[in-house]
Amino acid sequence: MAVVVLASATGSPGVTTTALGLALAWPRRVLVADCDRDPSQAVQAGYLRGMDHGGRGLMSLAHLHREGAPLDPEVWRHGLPLVEGGEIERRFLPGFATAGASRLFEHVWRPLGESFGALDTQGADVIVDAGRISTTGLPLGLLAVADTVILCVRSSLRSLAGARIHLTTLQEQLRSLPVPPPAALAVVGSGRPYSGAEIAAQFSLPVVVEPAWDPRGAEVLSDGGQEPRRFSDSPFMGRFRSDAKALSERIARTRQHTAVIAGVSA
Ligand SMILES: Nc1ncnc2c1ncn2[C@@H]1O[C@H](COP(=O)(O)OP(=O)(O)OP(=O)(O)O)[C@@H](O)[C@H]1O
Ligand SMILES: [Mg+2]
Repeated sequence: MAVVVLASATGSPGVTTTALGLALAWPRRVLVADCDRDPSQAVQAGYLRGMDHGGRGLMSLAHLHREGAPLDPEVWRHGLPLVEGGEIERRFLPGFATAGASRLFEHVWRPLGESFGALDTQGADVIVDAGRISTTGLPLGLLAVADTVILCVRSSLRSLAGARIHLTTLQEQLRSLPVPPPAALAVVGSGRPYSGAEIAAQFSLPVVVEPAWDPRGAEVLSDGGQEPRRFSDSPFMGRFRSDAKALSERIARTRQHTAVIAGVSA
């Protein structure tokens, strides 16, 4: 029912950590997709502690696309399990493994984006880690299928100054789409020093995710650090659960509203 795109402006505010936290707490089946054009293998080497990807991931999907194979049936199959067992299936789609690989992907973003949207028919949502916006913006094929595009920031002046610059590029890109998805913010460590409410007011954008500031908890997700006892019951993961629930409900409401308007104007 949802494609959520997460990105950053400058620095490393915590996009990957936030994408993983949301995916582990998401209320439905979910695929978290590493679409960062600056490859790092952060999730495989970190949270998944070196799990073998068995050739699965973006490059294999690009290969299939070149051969004319439809991506829809492949995207979910290319995901690695993020968790063992559990009631809800959560998968991770590995990203680029070599520098410059994303340059060969220009024609694949759109079909890939469309197949993310099509996962809805399999009851799955997608959380995209799109990495930095960069001077050229994010791949339009991903933005075109997004239900919401979330810019991840820290609450420091330095992070917010960078966000201001790159948000302009992102908003221009969103305006160029036939149906622009809404933009929103994720504030990592709100209150250090600026609050989520202050940042929302400054940027005229809603803050839809506010991960708790917890270096040790974050390290479990970003670096595969040792899980503290009762990690999944910690306030850090609890915050992801409440933010994930609120975000998925927000997207469902927007979709319903859009469907009603489309029905009225049909
Ligand atoms: N909520 C949080 N509380 C404390 N530290 C955090 C939090 N979220 C992320 N971090 C830390 O911030 C650092 C960067 O995180 P992460 O790798 O997720 O950022 P990123 O924006 O994806 O960076 P990159 O652009 O390099 O991919 C990591 O050390 C991570 O543990
Ligand atoms: Mg990252």
